[in-house]
Amino acid sequence: MSSSQTKRPLSSAKAGPLSGDIRVPGDKSISHRSLMFGGLAIGTTKVTGLLEGEDVLATADAMRKLGATVTRDEDGTWHVTGVGVGALREPDSVIDMGNAGTGIRLMAGIVATHPITTFFTGDASLCRRPMGRVADPLSEFGAQFITRDRGRPPMAVIGTDEAKPVTYTLPMASAQVKSAVMLAGLNTTGTTTVIEPKPSRDHTERMLRHFGVDVDVKVNDDGGRTVSLTGPVEMKAADIVVPTDPSSAAFPMVAALINPESHVTIRDVCLNPLRTGLITTLIEMGGDITITNEREEAGETIGDLVVTGKNRLKGIVVPAERAPSMIDEYPVLAVAAAYAEGETRMCDLEELRVKESDRLAAVAAGLEANGVIHRIEGDDLIVTGGVVPGGGMVETHLDHRIAMSFLVLGLGAEKPVAVDDANPIATSFPNFETLMADMGAKFALHS
Ligand code: S3P
Repeated sequence: MSSSQTKRPLSSAKAGPLSGDIRVPGDKSISHRSLMFGGLAIGTTKVTGLLEGEDVLATADAMRKLGATVTRDEDGTWHVTGVGVGALREPDSVIDMGNAGTGIRLMAGIVATHPITTFFTGDASLCRRPMGRVADPLSEFGAQFITRDRGRPPMAVIGTDEAKPVTYTLPMASAQVKSAVMLAGLNTTGTTTVIEPKPSRDHTERMLRHFGVDVDVKVNDDGGRTVSLTGPVEMKAADIVVPTDPSSAAFPMVAALINPESHVTIRDVCLNPLRTGLITTLIEMGGDITITNEREEAGETIGDLVVTGKNRLKGIVVPAERAPSMIDEYPVLAVAAAYAEGETRMCDLEELRVKESDRLAAVAAGLEANGVIHRIEGDDLIVTGGVVPGGGMVETHLDHRIAMSFLVLGLGAEKPVAVDDANPIATSFPNFETLMADMGAKFALHS
């Protein structure tokens, strides 16, 4: 969304039981990658189930500017005709990645080893986010970066046509940084290797294989992974069926768990084991969640989730090792914790400080505004559950997940909960309000 757009305050109120059989939109991580990889492949890739949120549409425009042909049929099927690895053309205008950290960081990896100069910008949220984490390893390939404010966008990437292969150990668990390095390796002669101390989502590895790239993954003694590929590679177009996004499914899931007598089925959810930390956590908290109809599609595990509100949640300690598999789900987990019996401790949330907003601060402020007892100790967030007073106004800071999380908080609170701006929701879950309202959620424009 554009930062200059007028804010749209929205509130949610106690709803009673929710019920429905729903499908949330396509997975954001997989959607971005399907357009990028389709644009690098030879031939035409058909994509069904693509998330048509603002973040992903920005990636579609970026790939067009770099020479790929990206079209949409009326029925929502997308077609991407690629130019081939090494053959991207220099864009003749600035690429606006909107709110998308995944978009800008993965695109930086792609253009870093093409002999072109690319200018990227984004909205006010993206222009506050650190790009040094990709600029550092990509500079080792020979690319050059110009950023403002010590590593923030707008950002120019001067790509190299004499890329040197890189072996890089990630300083933080980040699929975006891992992916940026691997994508730079596609057009680099020799073996590019990424060592990740904690496994992060592996959609890049899986989808590259689907496009015919030989990606080697070894599990290290410490539980981390070593991922390598040898370039230059040729990618072959391969159709993609995008599963639905577990990070979006998280909102109706928590809404059902905190409203007794709710019964909700969520279809075709991506159950990649590196994305299911929230489901594991909610089940440990006593949540009634059943996975049915599990199957494989385009290299990913998919299934349906049946969620009821029959059990009261209980507070637990969420271990630090689980953070990469649920990194986007902590705001809505904090909401679940606000309704749980006792204390929930979420450990080692440092990475939350550099998301679409400083999510640790934004969640704490939202809980505070709505009378939920909580504290931050180091990088841990501790929430004490009970009756949620509500009645507060939450600042969303252009962060879609803060907006949706606190609208879910309001569905069980004593007084309505308002968010200052519901517009950012369109970045990842454009039909959130109608889909939730159809299940019985109560939303109202807030004046
Ligand atoms: C993503 C990786 C995660 C996640 C983001 C999507 C991806 O970011 O928060 O929403 O698609 O690779 P980090 O890699 O920075 O943890």
